[in-house]
Amino acid sequence: MTHLRLGHQNLGLGVGLRSVHFDHILRTWPDVDWFEIISENYMDSGGRPRYVLRQIAERYAVVMHGVSLSIGSTDPLDIEYLKKLKTLAREVNARWISDHVCWTGVLGRNTHDLLPVPFTEETLRHVVERIRTVQDVLERPFVLENPSSYVTFTGSSMEEHEFVARMAEEADCGLLLDVNNVYVSSFNHDLDPEAFIRSLPHDRIVQFHLAGHSNYVTHLIDTHDGQVIDPVWDLYRLAHRLTGGVSTLLEWDAKIPPFPELHDEVLKAKRFMGEALTPGPSPSLTSPQPGEGRPAGQEEKALPEVDPSPGRPGVRLGEGQGVRALSGGEPAPHPLHHIRPEVE
Ligand SMILES: [Fe+2]
Repeated sequence: MTHLRLGHQNLGLGVGLRSVHFDHILRTWPDVDWFEIISENYMDSGGRPRYVLRQIAERYAVVMHGVSLSIGSTDPLDIEYLKKLKTLAREVNARWISDHVCWTGVLGRNTHDLLPVPFTEETLRHVVERIRTVQDVLERPFVLENPSSYVTFTGSSMEEHEFVARMAEEADCGLLLDVNNVYVSSFNHDLDPEAFIRSLPHDRIVQFHLAGHSNYVTHLIDTHDGQVIDPVWDLYRLAHRLTGGVSTLLEWDAKIPPFPELHDEVLKAKRFMGEALTPGPSPSLTSPQPGEGRPAGQEEKALPEVDPSPGRPGVRLGEGQGVRALSGGEPAPHPLHHIRPEVE
């Protein structure tokens, strides 16, 4: 059975292309299924990075992932940026182009952070309209990702999963489900990550992201600097079953290991590939209810609880300025930190 999402093939198990691995890739042409690039690392560069990318694109499937579209901003869409995306996408035959459900700046300033949007009807209309414009300009499949978040708006009138689901349906775009981001945001806001994944329109999910994060006890930071933890793999397993399996990509952006180690990490996803897929109710990741049977094909192994931090003192939410923010905890990196494009 071929599982297509919005007509897109499952590309298999890929990794994010990072310049520290250029030499290894050009020397060995590793047996990786596909690469994802950070669009901004290449769209303004005509030097070696673009030259290397062109060679890689001749041999592997490539997907483009951006960090500065700012779909939620009130600034006008940057048409020049979109044209550069389109040019690069044509050059590398990008299967699709993705970015995040966020805003990254206003009044022409780029914060290099993926800032959360308020989940309101007004924001939804605004974002949907802009997605349609982006799609018209790019003329290539467009996909949006759920970011990790550390604050929420008290003015939100719906949950993130409802916002994301309605956005995808109303704008007719694809979804990139970052399973680690679901875990991080759910921990930070005391929500149920499994419910989030179950409630999305699974037929619109064309890609997964996996990554490591940092645990600061009271909150998690999406640092992409290590291995994927078991509870995130469990969520991936659920998402894999609900979607039937889609292109899966490992992000690793700090303390980047040698390429073989990076590749081995995403290959761990193979252990779920032989499992029975939905249709039908998917098994719960948490403890089964009394009398609940084990669906056919499910492993006998007991599934762990999703919350990995039994010593966690609880996330406290304070209010102020219309935003709910995490409080307390150890000193940590800027909580809205995300990835700056590599500077070549
Ligand atoms: Fe991601």
